[in-house]
Amino acid sequence: MSSLPIGIIGTGAYLPETVLTNQYLEKLVDTSDQWIRERTGIRERRVASPEEDVATMGEAAARQALENSGIAWEDLDYLIAASNTFNYMYPATAIRIQHGLGLDDKLAAFDLQAGCSGFNYALYVAENMIKNKGGYALVIGTDANTRMLDFTDRGTCILFGDGAGAVVIGPTDRSRLVASFVASSYNGKLYLKNEFTELNSPFLPKPALTGNFMYMDGPEIFKFAVRAVQESLRRILAQAGMSREEIDFLIIHQANYRILETGARFAKMPMEKVYVNVDRYGNTSAASIPIALHEALIEGKIQKNHKVVLISFGAGVTWAATVLEWLS
Ligand code: COA
Repeated sequence: MSSLPIGIIGTGAYLPETVLTNQYLEKLVDTSDQWIRERTGIRERRVASPEEDVATMGEAAARQALENSGIAWEDLDYLIAASNTFNYMYPATAIRIQHGLGLDDKLAAFDLQAGCSGFNYALYVAENMIKNKGGYALVIGTDANTRMLDFTDRGTCILFGDGAGAVVIGPTDRSRLVASFVASSYNGKLYLKNEFTELNSPFLPKPALTGNFMYMDGPEIFKFAVRAVQESLRRILAQAGMSREEIDFLIIHQANYRILETGARFAKMPMEKVYVNVDRYGNTSAASIPIALHEALIEGKIQKNHKVVLISFGAGVTWAATVLEWLS
């Protein structure tokens, strides 16, 4: 096995072309551009076209990450797709992406579902697989949230958008994964759920609902999210043996600008160190962290020797954090 540290070698992102503005949402539900901007910081989000889905978006992000990594595609051993909006229970979205990349038979691909923390979870799994067995992995976060939103519910439909992000990880001198944890807890009050409706079984009563929509108690989730940011930073710094002052940049799950602001304040981190693109994409669930990481690198916000923390929280509920050191 390589003596190099395991880190992120290349990143990529894909955002669908169609832009859904707050002004358009004003036509669908009783809301206003001003209310959405003041309460969430979101101006617009993207919507996947009818030809696109989590697999096509994930594949586009993966291609870019592979190109940026410079590794030979056949050197990949694993492909993990984190998503909450799979088209099919099977075949797995990850296997559809594998096929799209022309890597049938060449690697092991599987899906992972952990709410909006899915990318951090997948990174954690991939890192530990590589630590044990060596090799390289593609880790993808991809979500087509607009496919499961109720566009008559103003409390949820204004928040989410579609997109995908991807990274290649493995032994490298580009960056180093310093520390990471994943966590979860069931809490009936934290109401963010999407129930499967079983239509076909003759052994079950007919369901009242005939669609899979997301439901949420926004204010409760808000409180959970800001505490998750605070607690995640405390825990990951303790694990890494680092102080807040040593952290150069923070990538927090892009759910709501007020969550970023309040979470950063609770965690005693200045907003100048916090990446923001929620204004342009809304909440892209599992895709949010890798899209933000990719953009922050392109914009030069993450530089050589920077220590970066990735913090996510999401339905389930789940939360997770990773410390990453950018080496070159
Ligand atoms: N447009 C206009 N008014 C709206 C609205 C909308 N889109 N959504 C809710 N309102 C109204 C409510 O009906 C309520 O009216 P009332 O006072 O007459 O009852 C008022 O605005 C305040 O609602 P509230 O839900 O308390 O607002 P809020 O400031 O908590 O903002 C969210 C609501 C959903 C934006 C906010 O709670 C949030 O972002 N929560 C976290 C959600 C999240 O990130 N989930 C994913 C986590 S991964």
